[in-house]
Amino acid sequence: MTANNDNTTWSGRSVTCTAPINIAVIKYWGKRDEQLILPTNSSLSASLDQDHLKSTTTASISKEFKRDRLWLNGKEESIENPRIQNCLIEIRRRARKRKHNDDSKSEMLNWSVHICSENNFPTAAGLASSAAGYACLVYTLSKLYDINGDVSDIARRGSGSACRSIYGGFVQWTVGEKKNGSDSIAKVVADVDHWPEMRVLVLVVSDQKKHTSSTNGMRNSVNTSDFLRYRAEHVVPSRMEEMIKAIEEKDYQKFAELTIKDSNQMHAVCLDTYPPISYMNDTSRKIINMIHAFNKYQGELKVAYTYDAGPNAVLYLLDEHVPDVVSLINYYFPPCDNIRETFIRGLKVDFKTDISQ
Ligand code: DP6
Repeated sequence: MTANNDNTTWSGRSVTCTAPINIAVIKYWGKRDEQLILPTNSSLSASLDQDHLKSTTTASISKEFKRDRLWLNGKEESIENPRIQNCLIEIRRRARKRKHNDDSKSEMLNWSVHICSENNFPTAAGLASSAAGYACLVYTLSKLYDINGDVSDIARRGSGSACRSIYGGFVQWTVGEKKNGSDSIAKVVADVDHWPEMRVLVLVVSDQKKHTSSTNGMRNSVNTSDFLRYRAEHVVPSRMEEMIKAIEEKDYQKFAELTIKDSNQMHAVCLDTYPPISYMNDTSRKIINMIHAFNKYQGELKVAYTYDAGPNAVLYLLDEHVPDVVSLINYYFPPCDNIRETFIRGLKVDFKTDISQ
């Protein structure tokens, strides 16, 4: 049998991957290039474990498919979405660039693709669903088309924060200097086993869709907030260095202080935006007050909070303090009251790939 004979029986391929959500401790808020999704400042996050908060994507190519199609959470959506197209076009361009000696693989580049993606957590509730979704899409397609090397810059074109979900552990997204964005990529700061005591509590205050998307919110901030420019130039560069050092040295006090300050600064930029954007609600603010009171009573920082573009709180803490903090939350927010759900998650994470032809 020759390679050509193999080719006639080889008519499809399917890949399934899962990807984690990530929660930033130094926030991305602002783009300097909307098309390539290049940020105004570097950012840093941890990828959470995938027991309950993850995206799963299956991508298939087949001779039999008539056109590209996409399903999100069981519902067919337009694959013409510009951000999906940004990713798909770049993936196919890189796949074509690779010299395939095997003609069967070159041929498959002309076949249509079907993509099914789902999240197992509330979409668009400020839980970084787009980050996990685009990271998973790009990673799955890269496996489908045998693309090697870093693909975080492709995930970035889907949703900025998605580039950080390509890797597990603590991950930075460097602001970069090049116009084409080739140096605005994700890099691992510390791998998943570095700080095994670190835990994350996700307090779901609301699972409603957020009123102002991150994309629109940060665009308005870039256009109207002087504080955003100040933050990007004068705060984040040194804060990134301090945060990386705190993680490397497992200095929880420093880590927690920087995490709290950076979340508050991002939300201060939102308030400095005109008209102002307010993502937190009364419950979010009560959680903040509760945590500061608890830390003060303890005489040191035992728990840090951070908020993305929504009212849900994410707490970073060491595992020895989880029981006390969970009791505190249950006392102030009895089950079924303001906080709808509490997830306790660690940082253990990595991609699981399952390739079948
Ligand atoms: C508040 O990555 O959702 O979560 O690039 O426009 O898709 P786009 O925005 P997105 O921004 C999320 C920002 C954030 C902070 C962060 O994750 O760093």
